[in-house]
Amino acid sequence: MQILPVRLEMVLEQVRSSVQKEGSTRIIDVGSDHGYLAVRCLEESIADSVICTDIHESPAKRSMNALVEAGFEEVSEVYTTDGLRGVPLMRGDVIVIAGMGGLNIIDIISRAIKDNGYSVLENVTFVLQPQKSNEIVRNFLAKTGFVFVDESVCYDRDIFYNCMRVVFKGISSTLTDEEACYGPVLLKKYNSDDEVVADYFAHLNELFEVRKRSNPIVKSALEERLKNEGQ
Ligand SMILES: C[S@@+](CC[C@H](N)C(=O)[O-])C[C@H]1O[C@@H](n2cnc3c(N)ncnc32)[C@H](O)[C@@H]1O
Repeated sequence: MQILPVRLEMVLEQVRSSVQKEGSTRIIDVGSDHGYLAVRCLEESIADSVICTDIHESPAKRSMNALVEAGFEEVSEVYTTDGLRGVPLMRGDVIVIAGMGGLNIIDIISRAIKDNGYSVLENVTFVLQPQKSNEIVRNFLAKTGFVFVDESVCYDRDIFYNCMRVVFKGISSTLTDEEACYGPVLLKKYNSDDEVVADYFAHLNELFEVRKRSNPIVKSALEERLKNEGQ
């Protein structure tokens, strides 16, 4: 079985939970690099086929080699492309975009909507693991009509990572600054005494103490959070 770092295990867990019928789902890993996640999805029969895309040729080749070596050549495709360009989406797809900056993720999703239209998105799940700009990603998703199904957090080699699973419902909504910066589902998990989320929030509180000097959304989110924690 392909071994994954803790961060990718967290992403995989969200993919597993997205799959409605095991063995009949297509997983698209955007920015697949080494291709480990795609291999694992096939090894575990979470997916019956995978598509990997990477903007650069050498990571795309790495993904292809990993899939071929694991014996999955016939159920996988690898594209050297920007985001999802040239990949027609299908209902039921689970699209993973992990280990990338939030602005890049927004750009990829926006272009996918433009290319495929909103109707295809209705049955597509996105599993997103932004490396930064979480609040911008969450505000974009809410405004565009996505709803947050789940969010998770992990601690991997001294760094906290978070992951969100969203589906498109077509109804635009607005998040509070606290929801945008801490995560609407993570706030609920915090209130249910989730220990990892509590550690993550303590870390964010420290980080936001510094970031609030130049970011009014972060400042307002931190004030809201500290008020709610004090209650
Ligand atoms: C840090 S790696 C993350 C790899 C893997 N997804 C993970 O989470 O471990 C980011 C990968 O995304 C690719 N990438 C960056 N921007 C991209 C884009 N717009 N479209 C496709 N791939 C992209 C990079 O070439 C690189 O291989």
